[in-house]
Formats: sequence, C-alpha cells, structure tokens
Amino acid sequence: MTFRAEHLLGIEHLSPADITTLLDLADQYAEHNRQGRAHRDVLEGLTQINMFFENSTRTQASFEIAGKRLGADVMNMAMQASSVKKGETLIDTALTLNAMRPDLLVVRHPHSGAVDLLAQKVNCAVLNAGDGRHEHPTQALLDALTIRRHHDRLHRLSIAICGDIAHSRVARSNILLLGKMENRVRLVGPPTLMPSGVQDFGVEVFHDMKEGLKDVDVVMMLRLQKERMDGGFIPSEREYFHRYGLDAEKLACAKDDAIVMHPGPMNRGVEIDGTIADDINRSVIQEQVEMGVAVRMAAMDLLARNLRARRGAKAAGVMV
Ligand code: NCD
Repeated sequence: MTFRAEHLLGIEHLSPADITTLLDLADQYAEHNRQGRAHRDVLEGLTQINMFFENSTRTQASFEIAGKRLGADVMNMAMQASSVKKGETLIDTALTLNAMRPDLLVVRHPHSGAVDLLAQKVNCAVLNAGDGRHEHPTQALLDALTIRRHHDRLHRLSIAICGDIAHSRVARSNILLLGKMENRVRLVGPPTLMPSGVQDFGVEVFHDMKEGLKDVDVVMMLRLQKERMDGGFIPSEREYFHRYGLDAEKLACAKDDAIVMHPGPMNRGVEIDGTIADDINRSVIQEQVEMGVAVRMAAMDLLARNLRARRGAKAAGVMV
C-alpha cells in the first residue's frame, strides 16, 4: 500500500499509485455499502469534525454518513452560528478546535488555500471538502471511481468537462486527476468561462459543444457558479442553454456509450436538460452521489491508518 499522506488537501499532491489505492479501497466500500455491511471498528474512538464555511448539501451529508458508517464520533460545526460571525479568524477557530483534540477535520472554505493553511496549524488529519476555486479532491476521486466502474478503466479515455470551468474547483481537481491517469481532457465552454493560463493545462479547449463532445467517452457538466461571478460572464441563461446546455442533440455527438456526469447542485434548463439528467441509460449523477460516500470512507480510513501509525511511532519515540 502506497498511500502515506497526512492530509487530503488536493489531487495535486497525489501520485497515480495513491489515486489507485484510494479508488480500489473505495470500490470495496461501495460494494460493502450495497450489501449493508458494517465497518464500525475502522474509525472507532476517533472524532471527526465537519467545518463548512460555505453551503453544502451532498458533500457535508456524505462526509457525515461516511464517518458514521466507519464508527467515528461525528460533529458538524454550525459555522454560520459560530464565533466566525463575531470576527474570529480562521486560524483562531482552528486552534480552538484543535485544543479539543479531533482526529479528522473536514473543511470547506470560500477562499482558495484556506484549508492548506489550516492544516499547518492543527495536529490531526485534514480533508479538503472544497476551497474557493482551488481544489475539491474527494469530488474528483468520486468522479474517477464512477468513470472507472462504467468504462472498466481510468486511462486513455476522452473526457469533456463543460461549462463554467473558470470558477470551478471540481474542474481543477478533475483536470489534475484525469491528466495524471493519462486521459485526454477537453474543456468546452465560452471563452469568458475559461480560466486564465488554460493553454498550460495540457488539455484541448473548445468553444463549440458539438465539436467538443465529438466521440468523447464522458461528458461532465458543471454548474454556472454565479456566486463566484462578479459581472456579466454570459449574455443570458436562455442563450447559454441554447449554446452550451447539454441536450439530446449535442449529446448525440459523443460516443454511444458515453456517460453524463454532474457534481450537483444542478440547474436544470441552464447547463443541462432535465430529461438528460434523468435518463438512467446515460446519466450517472445518482451513482456519483453513491460513490461519494464510498470515496470519503476510503479517504478517512487511509488517513486514520497513517495518523495512528504516526501517533504510535511518536509514543514509541521513533521518528517517521
Ligand atoms: C460542487 C462544489 O461545491 O464545488 N458541488 C459539490 O461539491 N457537489 C460544485 C458546485 O457547487 O457547483
């Protein structure tokens, strides 16, 4: 087993072998979850704190379920109601929590880099649940697991990531992961929604959906992240749907067995047609949610093993 990391802060820090280790374990958890098998001893005696400084439905619920299935004591901090509102800094909040001796800290924050900074101040395992437009590693891992289960491999696939790339941490983590595993990544969207420096990402860029989707194995749609936009990036939602929204006609350009993905939350009629999202023959959106629990179980399991090993070594006076 290769995974030696102390934290899961981003895909950037993972090797292809780390990614495979995580996905193999997540695959086992996915099967066990379907059979209703219990694994409550894995995180038994450990405390997991979820700190979400930004709204979340599926990611927070998924981390909570994952921790509980593995037997952790899980606490959700209500950050809207916390001392952050009274002006406490992120670092002071972190140090306060650290003094309560958590073992796993799951953090979502609106600022890119905030989770890395926090990880330097605490002595437990930190998992990044999304920081600004920087990274969302567990989302990229659950997407990878979903793709691998459908196409029986995670290399030499052609994958189109479509829509609001510029504001998306999901896109960033996916570009890194899919690139490391030697896939061909295409970014499809209007020029205004492409990130700066895109020419150095090792991807192909398309501004026309039908060209961008031609013969791809995977179509990954992204939400228009209006909360991160401070101006007019698109003429209108109607116009956007017409040019970039995924409908049957555009999807017909992809391979016949191409799968349709979306990290959620979806805006039906803006980036995706509702009938495509609900088409059980093409859309794997619900399976992505299911794999989310399995991937988070695997990530917390592996980090907890490393945490216990480090603590054990420290107690024995050995350097690791
Ligand atoms: C994404 C996020 O928060 O980055 N959602 C998620 O975690 N499932 C994408 C989004 O908000 O559009």
